[in-house]
Amino acid sequence: MMSHLLIRGGVPLRGDLTVQGAKNSVLPILAATILARGQVVLRACPALRDVDASVRILQSLGCSARWEGADLLVDTAGMDRCEISDTLMREMRSSAIFLGAILARCGRADISAPGGCELGPRPIDLHLAGLRELGARIRERGGFLHCTAERLTGREIVLSLPSVGATENLMLAACGAEGITVISNAAREPEIEDLQNFLNACGGEVSGAGTSTVTVRGGKALHGCEYRCMPDRIVAATYLCAAASAGGDIYLRGVRESQLATVTAALRQGGCEIRGDGEGISCTCRWPMKAIRPVRTAPYPGFPTDAQAVLMAALLKSRGATVFEETIFENRYRHVDELVRMGADIRVSGRTAVVSGVEALSGADVHCTDLRGGAALCVAALAAEGESRIFEIGHIDRGYASIEGDLTVLGAQIIRVKQE
Ligand code: EPZ
Repeated sequence: MMSHLLIRGGVPLRGDLTVQGAKNSVLPILAATILARGQVVLRACPALRDVDASVRILQSLGCSARWEGADLLVDTAGMDRCEISDTLMREMRSSAIFLGAILARCGRADISAPGGCELGPRPIDLHLAGLRELGARIRERGGFLHCTAERLTGREIVLSLPSVGATENLMLAACGAEGITVISNAAREPEIEDLQNFLNACGGEVSGAGTSTVTVRGGKALHGCEYRCMPDRIVAATYLCAAASAGGDIYLRGVRESQLATVTAALRQGGCEIRGDGEGISCTCRWPMKAIRPVRTAPYPGFPTDAQAVLMAALLKSRGATVFEETIFENRYRHVDELVRMGADIRVSGRTAVVSGVEALSGADVHCTDLRGGAALCVAALAAEGESRIFEIGHIDRGYASIEGDLTVLGAQIIRVKQE
C-alpha cells in the first residue's frame, strides 16, 4: 500500500515531545540478545521498520520475539540456526551486526554479504578483519560469508577507522572469546555506551565505551535483563532542525544536550536559542536562520553524518551561504535534487555542498531517497509555502516510529495519506 505524507508549510512549531528510543542503540542490542540466556525485555522499544527487520532475523534463527504493548520481549533460548538469508540481509544492510553474536554463540555463522545501500558501498572489511583476529575463519564465496570459530580468543584489536558497526560487532564477538579483548581506535558514539550498559546489565564485563578504547572480559555466561535504550539523538536533531526551519518554540523531553552538542552549536550559530536542562532540550527560533560556519561531518564527537541532511534543510532560507563537507559516506547528498524541486539553491561538488539561502520555498511533490534524506524533505516542507506531498516514506519509517505523529505533537500540519 502506497502512502505519502501531506504537509502544509508556514506554520511555526509549538509543543513538548518525548523523543523515541534510539534506532542505532536498539539494533545492536537486538543482536546482543543472542548472547543472553533468558528473556530480555526492551522497554519502550521504538516501533521501526528496522526493528521489525531485526525481529524477523531473530525469528529466522529460531528465537522468539514479540511485542507486549510498547515493550519488545526477546528470548533466544530456542535458537537453532546460524545463517541469515540474502532476502533478510537485503532488507537491512546493518544486519551484519548479527555476525559477531551468532559466531560467539554457535561457533559458526553464514550470512549473505551485505551489499551497499543508498549511501554508497557499505564495506564490512574491518568487521571481518577483527573477527579473524579473534580466531574466526571466514570464507567469502558466492555472495555469502561462511564463518567458523572453534574458539574465539581475546586479544588487542586496532581499528583502522572508528567504525561504529565494527566496534559493536567486535564487542559482541569478544563476549564469547576467552580472556580479554581490547578494541583500540573504537568508535565513541553514545549508542556504543548504551550497548555496553546493556551487556553489563546481562552480566557482562565491558568498559571504556564512549572512549577510543573498549575492553571486554569474555567467556562469562550472560543472562536476560530489562532494559530501556537511550533516546534517539538523531531524531531529536531532526526536530530541532524542524523548529529552526519553521520557526517556533519546542521542548524535547529525555534527550541529553551533551549527546548532540555539535548540532545545537550549529543551530545556535544560526540564531536559535537552545537550552539543555538535564531533562531535555528547549529550542526557540523566532526569525529566519543565519548561514553558519562550514559543517564537516566526522565520527563522534564530531558533527554526525546522520544530521547533515536535516541541518541542510533548516538552512534553505537562511541569510547567506553554508558549506557542508560529508566525510563519512560517499553518496549522502541524494536529498539535494528533491530539495531543489522546492526552490532550494544547493550546489554539490563531490563531498562538498554549498547551500545559499533563498527568499522562499514552495511546496512540491518530492520522493524520499534514504532515511535521513527523507526526514530532511519534511523539515524543508514545514518552511515551504503551500502543500508538499512526500512519497516513498518507507525510508523514513525505518528510523522514525511516527514522524507525522511527533510533528503533529509539535504543532505541524502533517498527515499520512494511505492509498489502497
Ligand atoms: C552506523 O552505521 C549507523 N547505523 C549509521 O546510521 C551512521 O551513519 C554511521 O554509523 C556513522 O555514524 C547504525 O548504527 C545501525 P560505520 P555503520 O561503520 O556502522 C566505512 C542512520 O541514518 N567502513 O561507522 O555502517 C563505511 O563505509 C544510519 O541511522 C569501512 O570502510 O557506520 C563508512 O564510510 C545511516 N569498513 C564509514 O566507515 C568497515 O568495515 C563509517 O561507517 C566499516 C565501515
